[in-house]
Amino acid sequence: MRWTRRNFLQTFPVAAAATCVGSPRLLAANREQAATRGPNDQIQFALIGAGIRGQQIASAALQTPNVKIVAVADCYDGRLTHAKELWGQDVFTTRDYKEILARKDVDAVIVATPDHWHKQAAIDVMHAGKDVYLEKPMIHLYADGPEIIAAAQKTNRILQVGSQRVSNALYSKAKELLASGAIGQLNLVAARWDRSSNMGAWSYTVPPDASTETCDWPRFLGSAPKIPWNAERFFQWRKWTDYGSGVAGDLFVHLFSGTHFITGSKGPTRAMATGGLRYWKDGRNVPDVMLALFDYPEGFNLSLRVNQVAGGEEAESFLFTGSEGTMEIASTGLTVRRAPMSKYPGMTIQTFAKAEQEIYIKQYEQKYPPQPVGTLSDEVVERYQNPRGYDDTVEHFRNFFVSVRERKQPVEDATFGFRAAGAALLSNLSMQKNSVVQWNPETMKLG
Ligand SMILES: NC(=O)c1ccc[n+]([C@@H]2O[C@H](COP(=O)([O-])OP(=O)(O)OC[C@H]3O[C@@H](n4cnc5c(N)ncnc54)[C@H](O)[C@@H]3O)[C@@H](O)[C@H]2O)c1
Repeated sequence: MRWTRRNFLQTFPVAAAATCVGSPRLLAANREQAATRGPNDQIQFALIGAGIRGQQIASAALQTPNVKIVAVADCYDGRLTHAKELWGQDVFTTRDYKEILARKDVDAVIVATPDHWHKQAAIDVMHAGKDVYLEKPMIHLYADGPEIIAAAQKTNRILQVGSQRVSNALYSKAKELLASGAIGQLNLVAARWDRSSNMGAWSYTVPPDASTETCDWPRFLGSAPKIPWNAERFFQWRKWTDYGSGVAGDLFVHLFSGTHFITGSKGPTRAMATGGLRYWKDGRNVPDVMLALFDYPEGFNLSLRVNQVAGGEEAESFLFTGSEGTMEIASTGLTVRRAPMSKYPGMTIQTFAKAEQEIYIKQYEQKYPPQPVGTLSDEVVERYQNPRGYDDTVEHFRNFFVSVRERKQPVEDATFGFRAAGAALLSNLSMQKNSVVQWNPETMKLG
């Protein structure tokens, strides 16, 4: 292996990384609002769902200029208390997010509830006239997708889905390299997200004061089946399909967002998945090992894997394979290896009579003169890395707030979000049906 070039990416202006093309309808309808809000005016936002991710991303949002958090809704009092500890006693807190939606001082809302609340919360936010940053997976059920897309169109609100890799500068670089033919014709994408820990397998801590006094259990349940109080279900909801979508909705969806962003594809047409519950037999009803294969209409296949029993290894990676090389995205950054297919046919002559071997070698060398050492199998390697401390969630929020201020389509709108989550959920469907399943990525309908 030879390092011919070493590039360290600087964080480039994020607006340039986003596809900021406003639909005429969106732009026209929001002209009035744009006129009243300058590009540098403060945006006041609220948070619905102040759990692990909600607190993380509200803090990330606050790292972008001229934004302020004014209100927080959550079903666990301890998290409302901590929201004030984090962001100040002035922050309005409530168990009922409708109180937040009624406030005139809220421009945009982050929704980071469990998945079964995504659709209703996002639709309520948009109908209240506010823009929404909706955590992935955009949907819990297939029927959620068209409803969310329709609400975004009807209300002309900005909706950005929270698969933050879409705003990662490395992914933009990968997109550019693939389009420029850096690895030739793409034929395979293999991606995985492996974990091997209690937290990686979603066994999040239940606080000592968890009870029906401190937790609004009926509100948490929402549209899910009404069952008696269960602290594990409240704090570790990903383990049950009533609230989450297993590893497909939690992790495959990121891998789809990345694949779709980098390749420009709208999604797969065919899927098959397998897996099982191998280790975390703690009452959950979702697999901890899942493998899935997808056909893409552009002529490549995608293979995905999540292993929550990964022998100590924690890894998130992509390998794009083309006719002339590979492109890997991993914790080490983006690595491109160019190894064009040899134009020389090669030979398998060892089994022939010696005299035949000699004749063949002579003819071969006349037709294909020997090359200087290393030329034919030369592998060119390029490497890119984000600067130390780079946080793609902050970049994703920078993109979101640009869209909110300038009334531009976000980098990851509801259609993109449905195509990623709809593709991810095909894996669950294939396992449920024990068969291959079909999806139309254009119409976003099951076959
Ligand atoms: N983009 C990412 O990398 C990423 C990472 C982690 C989680 N997530 C997503 O973020 C979301 C939240 O995950 P989490 O790990 O923070 O879960 P969590 O359980 O830690 O937090 C969810 C919070 O939502 C609250 N909640 C539930 N129903 C509510 C309602 N009706 N109104 C107000 N609050 C309500 C709960 O009380 C809880 O505090 C999930 O959709 C998850 O997929 C995304």
